[in-house]
Amino acid sequence: MQWAATTLAVCGLGAAALATSMLTLGRRLELSQAKHRSLAGHDRMARRLAGFVPFYDYGDERFFDSDGAPADIAGLRRAGFFRLSELYKTRFAETIRCSAEAAETISDLQFTGAYRVPFQYRRMVRAHLPLGAFLQSSEGVTVTDLDGNRFYDLTGSYGVNVFGYDFYKGTIERGAARVHALGPVLGAYHPLIIENTQRIKEISGLDEVSFHMSGTEAVMQAVRLARYHTRRSHLVRFCGAYHGWWGDVQPGIGNPQPAHETYTLAEMSEETLHVLRTRRDIACVLVNPEQGLHPNAPAPTDSSLLDSTRSSHFDKEAYTNWLKRLREVCTERNIVLIFDEVFVGFRLAPGGAQDYFGVRADLVTYGKTIGGGLPIGVVCGRKDLMKRFREDRPADICFARGTFNAHPYVMAAMNEFLRQFQTPELQALYRNLDTVWDGRAQRLNRRLADEGLPVQVANMSALWVVCYTQPSRYNWMLQYYLRAQGLALSWVGTARLIFSLNYTDADFDAVADRFVAAAKAMKQDGWWWYDPATTNRTIRRAIMKEMIAHRLSPSRKH
Ligand SMILES: Cc1ncc(COP(=O)(O)O)c(C=O)c1O
Repeated sequence: MQWAATTLAVCGLGAAALATSMLTLGRRLELSQAKHRSLAGHDRMARRLAGFVPFYDYGDERFFDSDGAPADIAGLRRAGFFRLSELYKTRFAETIRCSAEAAETISDLQFTGAYRVPFQYRRMVRAHLPLGAFLQSSEGVTVTDLDGNRFYDLTGSYGVNVFGYDFYKGTIERGAARVHALGPVLGAYHPLIIENTQRIKEISGLDEVSFHMSGTEAVMQAVRLARYHTRRSHLVRFCGAYHGWWGDVQPGIGNPQPAHETYTLAEMSEETLHVLRTRRDIACVLVNPEQGLHPNAPAPTDSSLLDSTRSSHFDKEAYTNWLKRLREVCTERNIVLIFDEVFVGFRLAPGGAQDYFGVRADLVTYGKTIGGGLPIGVVCGRKDLMKRFREDRPADICFARGTFNAHPYVMAAMNEFLRQFQTPELQALYRNLDTVWDGRAQRLNRRLADEGLPVQVANMSALWVVCYTQPSRYNWMLQYYLRAQGLALSWVGTARLIFSLNYTDADFDAVADRFVAAAKAMKQDGWWWYDPATTNRTIRRAIMKEMIAHRLSPSRKH
C-alpha cells in the first residue's frame, strides 16, 4: 500500500517536473521565435562567429579587382586611387601629419582608423588614403582643417549639433559667464538648475529629472530604476539598436562578456509582443526611435560595406503603429517603456520622439544636444519610477551618483540651450521640418538617378543613410571621393549623414552638387563596374568562401 502511494507520489512529481520543463521549453521556443532572423538578432552566436573571422587582405594585387574586374577597369581604379592619394597627401598634409602623430598614443584613433573600410582593403587604404582627425575651427555649417580646407559638416558631431556650431559656441560662452562666480564647485547646485528641470518637465511631459555625464550613463540609470521598481531582471532591447556602450545594452559583438539579463528581440514583430505579454521577468523595453529608419538593422558603418544590401526606409505610420502597440502591451504588463532619445531628442519635434510619434514613455533619456555643447545624460520619468529608495525599507536603495553630475558649466550651457530652444523662432523650425528634409532627399535622389549613379539616400528628417542600388564590393570608396569634394563625414563614412537644422537651401544645394560630383568621379574611375552575373548574394558567398579558406589555411596571403 505504502509502496503504491510512494510510486504515485513519484509519478506525480515526475509529471509536474515534466510539465514545468515543457513550459520552460515552450517559453524558450517563444523567445527564439521573437528573435530577428539576422545575425544581429542572435548576440551569442554573433560573438562566437566574430571570433572565427580571420584577418586577411587583398594586398596590392587584388585590391583593384577583388570582384573579378577586367584589367582595364582595375587600371582605371588604380589610377583613380593614386590620384586621390596624391590629392589627400598634398591638400591635407598638416592635418594628416598631426593625426598620424596622435594616433601613436590615442587608442581611439587607432580603432576608428582601422574600421573605416572593410578589413580586406584596410592596409592599402591606410597607407595611401590617410585621414585627418584634426580641425581648427567651425563656422556656419562648415568646419576647417589644419591646412585651411573648409568642409561642409555632415558629421553632426555624433548628433550633438542640431542648431549649428555657432549656436553652441554661444550657449557655452554665455553659460560659462553666468556660473563663473561659482566655478566648478560640485555637489551643491547653481540655482539655474531649477529652471532646467522645469523646462525638461515641460518638454518631456514627465515628473522628475536626474542628470548624468553621458547618454550611456543615462540609459544605465533608466534600466536600473526599471529593474528596481519592477523587481524583475531582464531588459528588452531591439535588434540593431544602439543605446551606448554599457554591457547590458550591447550584448553582442564589441562586448567581451555576454549579457545574461538582456533579451534582444525583433522590432515590429508579433512574436515580440507575445513574449512581452507572457514572460514575467521583463523589467523594461528600451526603444531607440532612430531605428525607425532601419528597424532590426544595426546602425550601419562603411567598414561592413562589402556588398549593397544596406537598406533603409522610414515608414512613419508603420513605426508609429508599432510604438502604440508596444505602449499598450507595456501598460498591460507593467513593463517600463523607456524611450532612449539621446540621439533623436530635439531633432524631430519640439517634444521629442514622444511628440513626433504621439506615444508616451514611462522614462525618457536625453543626451548629446541638450548639454548645449557640453557632455550630458538626462533621465526623466514618472515620479514613482524615479524614486531611488523605499520609505518602508531604508536599506533597499537604487544607487546612482556621479562626480560630475549637474556640473555648473554644463547646467548653464543647458540652460542657454533650453531657453533658446523654447523661443518661437526655434520652435518654428519644426513646423515644416520633415517636408524640407524629405524634399531635399528627393531632389538629391532624382539627380543621382538622372546621372545613372547607383546611389540613393534614405532619411528620417535630417538623419540620412546612403544606400547603394547595384551590387558592388567597392561602395566604401565613396567616402573618400566625398571628402575630396569637401564634405566632412564621421568615421562611419556614408552610413550616417547628420545635418544640422541651420542648413539653408543654398548650403544644401552646395552639398548636393559636391555629392553628385563625387559619385560621378567614382563611377568614372571604374569602381562601380560590375559583372551582370553578380548579385549581393554571390558577393557574400564569395567572401564567405575566402574567410573559410583563410580560416583553414591561415598562411594564405589573400
Ligand atoms: C540612442 C543612444 N543612446 C545612448 C547613446 C550613448 O550616449 P553617449 O555617447 O553620450 O554615452 C547614444 C550615442 O550615440 C545613442 O545614440
